Amino acid sequence: MDRLKKFVRPHILTIKPYSSARDDFKGSAEVYLDANENSYGPVTGGDFNRYPDPHQTKLKGVLSKVKGVSPDQIFIGNGSDEPIDLLIRAFCEPERNKIVILPPTYGMYKVSALINNVGVIEIPLTIEFQIDTDQLKKTSFDYCKIIFICSPNNPSGNLLNSQTIIEILEEFDGLVVVDEAYIDFAQETSLIEKLEQYPNLVILQTFSKAWGLAAIRLGIAYGNPYIIEILNKIKPPYNINKASQEMGIQALEIESTKNEVVEKIVAERNLLAKKLKALSFVREIVPSNANFLLVRFDNSESINDFLRKRNIIVRDRSRELHCEGCLRITIGTPVENDRLIQVLNEL
Ligand SMILES: Cc1ncc(COP(=O)(O)O)c(C=O)c1O
Repeated sequence: MDRLKKFVRPHILTIKPYSSARDDFKGSAEVYLDANENSYGPVTGGDFNRYPDPHQTKLKGVLSKVKGVSPDQIFIGNGSDEPIDLLIRAFCEPERNKIVILPPTYGMYKVSALINNVGVIEIPLTIEFQIDTDQLKKTSFDYCKIIFICSPNNPSGNLLNSQTIIEILEEFDGLVVVDEAYIDFAQETSLIEKLEQYPNLVILQTFSKAWGLAAIRLGIAYGNPYIIEILNKIKPPYNINKASQEMGIQALEIESTKNEVVEKIVAERNLLAKKLKALSFVREIVPSNANFLLVRFDNSESINDFLRKRNIIVRDRSRELHCEGCLRITIGTPVENDRLIQVLNEL
């Protein structure tokens, strides 16, 4: 615990968190006149006039069973973007501390750091989109508090070498945040089972991808209870609304449905990769463990323009490191994927 405590910004340790009306009274009562809610009910009808559970107790209970962790190892955020921001705010002193990222990677780590006036050290992935261990050894990590590792990586789609991640966990004197937003689509399993062994490990997952619930904004951070407590201490009191908590529980109760959809997406991914490979102007497809493909084209700009004119939107990643000529294509339904191939064949 002392090791983790020394990573936290000292003033955070002394803050007394906001105590909500729902913290002050936890039982059930006949009349609630404690939270300045509207006892007459919502103007829309429905059951939304009371503040939601600030601790998401029921959702964490169900999630803990599904994931095999204890509820005090779970933080629920308004999308994974919330724990990304909170981790930086809790652990990095502005203008002093830094985070480490491995580009090309998910953009919000850097944006959140910059918003918080926290420095960013970039250790580029190799051209095969793997962690550059030589560069890692040469880098000075003075003042670095967090390293963000995205695996499967966005935008490349591949898994990063898990043995290298373990080595980083063992050697880095700070938090190692492994973003597993796309892990359900991968051949490897989550690093969740390593949480007990590595107190400095934080794992991010989300309901936005495999669960198909991007609109309800549910992101999760799994970590040592001490880290989770710090995040809970600084989060806005009611960060997860009632509808999202309920939808999350409902989803977890039908996990098998999620698994079936993941299977379909993975099969479509493999099929789409095969069809794209057959096109003469496709130069490379990065082997994917996610729900998208990073595809390198001879002339990505004109292909992107052509697709847009035909009402098909993909993500131009050609300006990202090692991604010259690349478009990132999310796996759609069979009909959508067929349409994409049909339009590309018109070229
Ligand atoms: C790697 C990665 N992490 C996190 C997120 C954001 O997830 P959420 O919708 O939970 O904020 C994304 C979204 O695309 C992502 O690609």
